[in-house]
Amino acid sequence: MQSDNKTPVTRNLVCSDDAERLARRRMPRMMFDFVDGAAGSETAHRLNLSELEKIRLQPRVLVNVESRTMGKRFLGEDMGLPFGIAPMGMCNLTWPGADRMLAAAAVERQIPVGVSTAASTTIEDMAECSKGRAWFQLYVAQSIDTALEMTARARAAGYTTLMLTVDVPQISRRLRDHRNGFQVPFRLGVKQFIDFAVHPRWSISTLLAGTPSPANFTGGGPRRGFMRNEGRGKVDWAFLAQLRDAWDGNLIVKGVTFPEDAARIKKTGADAIYVSNHGGRQLDSAPPAIATLAPIRAAVGPDYPLIFDSGIRSGEDVIKALATGADFVMLGRPMLYAIGADGARGLSTLIDNIAEEVDTTLAQIGLKDIADVGSHCLYPRHEDTGSRKG
Ligand SMILES: Cc1cc2nc3c(=O)[nH]c(=O)nc-3n(C[C@H](O)[C@H](O)[C@H](O)COP(=O)(O)O)c2cc1C
Repeated sequence: MQSDNKTPVTRNLVCSDDAERLARRRMPRMMFDFVDGAAGSETAHRLNLSELEKIRLQPRVLVNVESRTMGKRFLGEDMGLPFGIAPMGMCNLTWPGADRMLAAAAVERQIPVGVSTAASTTIEDMAECSKGRAWFQLYVAQSIDTALEMTARARAAGYTTLMLTVDVPQISRRLRDHRNGFQVPFRLGVKQFIDFAVHPRWSISTLLAGTPSPANFTGGGPRRGFMRNEGRGKVDWAFLAQLRDAWDGNLIVKGVTFPEDAARIKKTGADAIYVSNHGGRQLDSAPPAIATLAPIRAAVGPDYPLIFDSGIRSGEDVIKALATGADFVMLGRPMLYAIGADGARGLSTLIDNIAEEVDTTLAQIGLKDIADVGSHCLYPRHEDTGSRKG
């Protein structure tokens, strides 16, 4: 299952922590911190990781698990793996061409790749290179009209799944970004110049490829430049209902951590809820995302599709999230660490490693089929949360 063309870097990339360490070395500090950082004191981010660590799985023995399957059907798509790539803005800051690397990996593994409103590659280009594997992620910033125009662009480009992100009413204070002087568009001061100068590979490749920018916002009129710090507080229940009417494909609502919100979103007609605290990048005092998953599962019932992200770093974490109530899992930062570490090869190696961990974990807990993971796999054991919808 491992990639063939190993480099010294990918040989040292055997898990997500390795990818993080290698990316930290290879990327300018300002860019690494943009990816790695979180809101405020970064407590929510740390808790995402530590609460997942506390969850234990129950090993089972004497089960024939010789042939195993990790693929599953989810939201009408055949998925090659039970995890995909979370939507992330400005990925090309990690390394030139990062968006396309993510899209190519999604095609190769038959997994979804989120395409952010703030992506550094256009909606249309990402649709083309992801061959139906991309899910478009919508922010409502400038106006409702701009958001609906963006949605229409996504539909015209062939997207069938739309994710509305609802946990960014205002972009949060990320202290590392403030300290590093991170802003879009960039302003190059002495500090940034030195940072780029000591990372020549990143700087030269980025110069040659052209400075990344939010590619969906070029030109004048409603497509005027993207304002990263602009308020995004217009999203409310009325807008969700309006969007549900306007979008006839799959509609996912991303960034939910409260059971009552989840129940109401389900009632509004969304096709799935994406449980997430944005990787701790929004509210530093937010609960660890994984702690909110079981209550949300209880609120929406056993068959309603749930996606989970925030803190997933390994194949065992993927299984833990599935056992806690998710049907599908996404990873954010680790995908970008891997690209920062060694481009497309790094990404491919990381996905291979996590897939191998998922497969091995299945064997350890006595299961042959990823679809059979449920709360009975947790230690101490729980009543199963019931069947999962395909
Ligand atoms: C660099 C970066 C950019 C992000 N941009 C977006 C975005 O544009 N839209 C969105 O819904 N979430 C965005 N997110 C949040 C991710 O979709 C995801 O919820 C989060 O990264 C999951 O946590 P993890 O990084 O611990 O896996 C971003 C995350 C990162 C790290």
